[in-house]
This record gives sequence, structure tokens and C-alpha cells, in this order.
Amino acid sequence: MMGHSHTDHERSYLPAMGKDWLLPLYDPFIRLAGVGRVHGQLLDRADLRPGQRILEIGCGTGNLLRALGRRVPDVEAVGIDPDPAALRRARRKATRSRLPIRYERAFADELPLPDGGFDRVLSAFMLHHLAEEDRIPALREVGRVLRPGGELHVVDIDGTPSGHGPGRLHRNPRVMGSLPERVLAALADAGLTGVAENGRGRAWFGRYVFYRAEARQRG
Ligand SMILES: C[S@@+](CC[C@H](N)C(=O)[O-])C[C@H]1O[C@@H](n2cnc3c(N)ncnc32)[C@H](O)[C@@H]1O
Repeated sequence: MMGHSHTDHERSYLPAMGKDWLLPLYDPFIRLAGVGRVHGQLLDRADLRPGQRILEIGCGTGNLLRALGRRVPDVEAVGIDPDPAALRRARRKATRSRLPIRYERAFADELPLPDGGFDRVLSAFMLHHLAEEDRIPALREVGRVLRPGGELHVVDIDGTPSGHGPGRLHRNPRVMGSLPERVLAALADAGLTGVAENGRGRAWFGRYVFYRAEARQRG
């Protein structure tokens, strides 16, 4: 969300709290900030049913997929994230809640997953963590792993400046670049169809926007 890119040996990424050592504060932050309610709103929009295969890109510590597992029985859920420490927490929480969620280390633009294998892809507060040049490649990967007609449901920070001047979060360049018109353009440029904004909300950490899109029918 804030701070500097983490560098590992192959590739850098922006971790959940901006810095690795802040990761233990992520779940308390999520609870305090009421992000669970926003996750619920994203799941409401995604029209999830038993038997579906669902992928979350940028799953962090696994709160969205855990909420999904509690809400919809018998889904096959996979979460990917480049942050091994976040994945360790996610796996621990899934085991504790006895949810069969699979977590794998991956970057969103290099998914180690087959073509057309998913009914839904979800993404919560993750797109603004991507460098501008990684956004379209990541969304193309979403189109590849979704079955034709499968749906992507996204929620992300709205970086549009508000009348009250920038808050701390909104001074971050990646947050400032998280503009609905840019997200909608990236979704369409990545070859997804049915691209639309799907609602807005506000919490004390800022404003957020929902988006939806579909994978094209092939052939
Ligand atoms: C603010 S956290 C959101 C976590 C979770 N989706 C949630 O709603 O609680 C953003 C996540 O995006 C991940 N991320 C950063 N760069 C990424 C990339 N290139 N591909 C996939 N995930 C990435 C970070 O490691 C972090 O876990």
C-alpha cells in the first residue's frame, strides 16, 4: 500500500504494507479498516457458486479467500502472491480454518496455471501494487487463465484527488496512479470484454472502486 519496492533475487514487488517488516500489522490493519466488509461486497458481485474454480491474484495473507471458503462450500480456490511471508500466513490461516485453499508463489503476469482453468478471478487492493508497465500483462494473464465467458472481479483504491487535499495514502505515486479511467482502459487493452465499473465505496483509508470484466469467447 505504501512505501518502497521489496527486492528479491529475481524480481521486485511492492508488499502488502509497503515494507516486509510491517507485514505482521497487515491483518490488524485490515480488521480495523473494515476491509472485510469490502471483501464481502466483492464476493457479492462475483456471483460465486459451489463447484467453481476461483483464483485470487495478489492474495496477501489470504483474507478474501478465507471469507470465500466460509461463504461458498465446495469451491476450488487458488491464491497467488509473490510474497512468501504473506503466503505462509495465508496457508496457516487456511489450515486453522480447515479450508482447502491452495496458495502458490507467483507474479500476476506469469501465472503457473493452465489456459481456461478458472470460472472467476478475483483481485482486492492489488492492482495499484503493480508497476504501470506490468498492469496490462497481468490482466492478459487473467484473460488466459479464465474460461471463455469467465469473469474477473476487482476492487481497488481510487486515487482520484478529493476536494480535501491528499491524505497520506494519496501521496503515494502508485495510489495516485490508481484512477478508474486508467483501470478501465487497461482491462479493455488487455483484451477483456464486458469491462465496466461495478460500484464505489468509502472507508477511512480512502475511496475504492469495483470493476468487472470477462474473458472473450474463443474461436
Ligand atoms: C494490499 S495487499 C492485498 C492483499 C489481499 N488481496 C487483501 O485484500 O487483503 C496487495 C498484495 O499484492 C501483492 N503483489 C504485489 N505485486 C504483485 C504482483 N506483481 N503479482 C501479484 N501480486 C502482487 C503484494 O505482495 C500484496 O500481498
